[in-house]
Amino acid sequence: MSIPTKEGAGFEPAITFEDVWVGFDEGQVLRGVTFQVQERETLILLGETGTGKTLTLKMAAGLLTPNSGTVVVLGNEVSEMKEKELLAFRRKIGFVFQEGALFDSMTVGENVAYRLREDRVAEEEIEPRVREVLRFVELEHTLEQLPSELSGGMKRRVSIARALINQPPIVLYDSPTAGLDPVTSQTIITLILRLRDVYGVTALLATHRLQDGFALANFHFDPETKRVVPNAQNGNAAAAANAARTRFLVYRDGDIYFEGEPGEVANSEDPYLKRFLV
Ligand SMILES: Nc1ncnc2c1ncn2[C@@H]1O[C@H](COP(=O)(O)OP(=O)(O)OP(=O)(O)O)[C@@H](O)[C@H]1O
Ligand SMILES: [Mg+2]
Repeated sequence: MSIPTKEGAGFEPAITFEDVWVGFDEGQVLRGVTFQVQERETLILLGETGTGKTLTLKMAAGLLTPNSGTVVVLGNEVSEMKEKELLAFRRKIGFVFQEGALFDSMTVGENVAYRLREDRVAEEEIEPRVREVLRFVELEHTLEQLPSELSGGMKRRVSIARALINQPPIVLYDSPTAGLDPVTSQTIITLILRLRDVYGVTALLATHRLQDGFALANFHFDPETKRVVPNAQNGNAAAAANAARTRFLVYRDGDIYFEGEPGEVANSEDPYLKRFLV
């Protein structure tokens, strides 16, 4: 898998939300939300249940149109795109759905290949691509198995593999560690971290767990040793400047309650923020 990385490219906004409102008959869920995700950055989206995290990811993916405001992704204003443009656009966005959403009656391989078959990719091209993404999530051996034969963590890894099949520059993760035990959650976060550091993926990650964000902020994948290692406290400036950034965005009652760096969150005594320490 090779996602083109622009040598020496600056960090441009990959995703911009500008005064976005969204809601239903029951009321507005988001009331004028503005934020950006820079290229290669991971934005951790926190908020209690029902605060609009999933809606945010759906708007970023062009699966839902805001009531007002603009959503610009990779230079495209999502709400202005025609259906045909949207189809092409969605290929650039990997979406790891909350709860995984695998097709139970299809094998792992068929699940991962699904979008390629939809796009009528030649069969001889499909298998190597499916194997490659499954190898990345260390599940190549499950190709012929059904989702029901896998553990919760493995299913989540298959969902990630499926989201990667088109080599998207942006991946949206909806609560990727929800319902998993701490050890399995760590496996998933490590995978997300490798994806970021190996392919330079930009990510928006909804979660209830602050720890997911801290793990992404404090560790990186070392391509030489092929291991996940803590960021050096006093590493060289060039490496630090090139490191992928992690930031936090916290929703509360339709608004952005907090936006900031991992250090600010870690040192915060704010009771609402502390609710997300599990
Ligand atoms: N199609 C819909 N029709 C009506 N209300 C909806 C619809 N989709 C979402 N909502 C409501 O919008 C609110 C925000 O939903 P959303 O799924 O974005 O929350 P969330 O932050 O992802 O929550 P969780 O942490 O539980 O995943 C909820 O109150 C939900 O009931
Ligand atoms: Mg949700």
